[in-house]
Amino acid sequence: MPVIAVIGAQWGDEGKGKVVDMLAARADMVVRFSGGDNAGHTVVNPLGKFALTLVPSGILSPGTVCVMGNGMAIYPAMLLEEMDVLSGRGIDLSGLRISDRANIIMPYHRTLDRLEEKARGGEAIGTTGRGIGPAFADKAARLGIRAGDLLTPENFRERLVQVLEYKNAIITKVFGGDALSLDEIYREYLGFAKRLRPYICETTRLVAEAIDAGQEVLLEGAQGTLLDPDFGTYPFGTSSSPLAGAGAAGAGLGPLRINAVVGIFKSYCSRVGAGPFPTELDDEMGRLIRERGAEFGTVTGRARRCGWFDSVAARFSNRVNGFSSIALTRLDILDGMPSLRICTGYELDGKRIDEFPAGVHTLDRCRPILEELPAWQGPISGVRDRDDLPAEARRYVDRIEELIDTPVSIISVGAAREQTIICRSIV
Ligand code: IMP
Repeated sequence: MPVIAVIGAQWGDEGKGKVVDMLAARADMVVRFSGGDNAGHTVVNPLGKFALTLVPSGILSPGTVCVMGNGMAIYPAMLLEEMDVLSGRGIDLSGLRISDRANIIMPYHRTLDRLEEKARGGEAIGTTGRGIGPAFADKAARLGIRAGDLLTPENFRERLVQVLEYKNAIITKVFGGDALSLDEIYREYLGFAKRLRPYICETTRLVAEAIDAGQEVLLEGAQGTLLDPDFGTYPFGTSSSPLAGAGAAGAGLGPLRINAVVGIFKSYCSRVGAGPFPTELDDEMGRLIRERGAEFGTVTGRARRCGWFDSVAARFSNRVNGFSSIALTRLDILDGMPSLRICTGYELDGKRIDEFPAGVHTLDRCRPILEELPAWQGPISGVRDRDDLPAEARRYVDRIEELIDTPVSIISVGAAREQTIICRSIV
């Protein structure tokens, strides 16, 4: 049985939650490998509608072991809130495991996220304000506190004393903010530790044993490739890698153990927060897509910027992830559109380019070269076979497949699990 990585291929919000939920229904284990509560995964299944930020979507499938991997940054207050909501709705949490190596988001991370954003002024990234950047910066700076540290109160306190002194100096002296109280944080986090203790453990062995036993394991990505700290629109991105390669590192397994990498692409593009977006539609069409697609952030409620499908970015995303197939989501949102376009190249300083530039200033100057495609009349939400799609919708999908040069395995035509077209096996 395979290990399948599910990866956001654009700027996040591609509809990974639905695809993971669908695949998790038959998986034995789901491992979330990056990000934190900046992610928002909306899942609609027979149990109802769920908005998850930290707990892997597999929790909704009874019997599935759900691992929060070492590559995550976890804010315990949010995790416990999410766990309470889930158990209040009758979801069994006994399969949840938290890597003892996962980094913990502390109150000063959230404080600093806000202070740093404010200090950036007009250059603000538009972060989710959840402390993600400061937490991953601390991980790299070896100042992080990890889930396992919470389990030994003396060691935790000693570490907190050291780190908080440094953080408070920055908060007060650099930003002129108020110092945070050691005792308050210590007490609060001991409370969290007490509740989370049964779930925190070494997880790489669990994952290895599942694979060795021939179980199906899903690696659940968060955010999207174009927010990656290396390959995204740096610095307008997030602080942990959403890429397939990070799936191995963030779950604690060797890359050769991954058998399939599914790239999740929305049938159009959206992004939330600041940064370049070459195919952005700052007009009536953009508003139409946003309204039809209800493109408002799951985590922050912010209106998402919307635009045409960008195949320059998509090819780049495919290159750095090595997708074995594509899941194309939200095709139904394009039902009955007055016209449809796909970006096939960029125009930069009067010349055509086909590569996704590294620099945001260059990207800002790129104008999309758009190819017009015939629109279809809907609704397509009831379609379950690719051949039964209207000819124009088939052509749209074929063209995307051709431009990315990777087969489409799944087409999503609605939020519900069954509103899905399976085109081919993903492994
Ligand atoms: P951060 O991850 O909160 O530091 O935010 C950095 C950038 O990534 C901002 O532009 C956010 O809007 C964006 N971002 C973070 N998480 C997500 C997500 O799950 N979906 C879409 N955008 C995200």
